[in-house]
Amino acid sequence: MNRDIADMRKHYTKGVLTEDSVLNNPIDQFKSWFKETAIGEVVEPNAMIIATVDKDNIPSARTVLLKEIDPEGFLFYTNYSSDKAKDISVNPNVSLVFLWKEIERQVRITGVAEKITTSRSEEYFHKRPKGSQIGAWVSPQSSVIENRNVLEERLKEVESKYKDEEILPLPDFWGGYIVKPTAIEFWQGRPSRLHDRLRYKLEDGNWKIERLAP
Ligand SMILES: Cc1cc2nc3c(=O)[nH]c(=O)nc-3n(C[C@H](O)[C@H](O)[C@H](O)COP(=O)(O)O)c2cc1C
Repeated sequence: MNRDIADMRKHYTKGVLTEDSVLNNPIDQFKSWFKETAIGEVVEPNAMIIATVDKDNIPSARTVLLKEIDPEGFLFYTNYSSDKAKDISVNPNVSLVFLWKEIERQVRITGVAEKITTSRSEEYFHKRPKGSQIGAWVSPQSSVIENRNVLEERLKEVESKYKDEEILPLPDFWGGYIVKPTAIEFWQGRPSRLHDRLRYKLEDGNWKIERLAP
């Protein structure tokens, strides 16, 4: 099996990334690439890996879903008592990675995560399907639980409490973060491993674009 893994490699031929073709603002550039994920039929293009570090500088990474692209950054929603939220409260520096395999692209974002306002979280929470609203109430995300039954029992309780309502109140332990970028790198796969990499870096309030060796 290890030999098979070692032999796995793909040739990248689907695009090029040039200094002339990119937009001045990396969030605009991100939006432009995000639109192209639909043309390339990328599966769950809004799935992103977010890496955080804890109080002992131990990193962890996990997938979350991008829910909005704002002129100031990238929004996702989670449980404010989860491990990732604890990490962010001691160190708000995070890293995001989007891998869009189908179009041979990757975007890496370095930035600072901040909680969004409760009213903004509430507005999004109330747009979620009822089942997702219930799920947020049921799950003490990242806590150790004895078994699956703990969730099933809690689900019954929450379902019965809100059986007559379509909209549940926003839990005070649930909401969004915005990741405000300080650097964004766009990667386009190219033949012979000579990929294109353009990195935008925020310097004195302006975005500087540099090409990186692959
Ligand atoms: C495709 C996918 C999407 C996910 N989206 C979210 C999300 O938007 N928010 C979230 O809190 N967890 C999401 N998760 C679960 C997280 O990866 C993770 O298990 C959870 O947030 C707990 O992480 P933590 O213990 O590091 O805080 C998603 C997982 C997958 C595989």
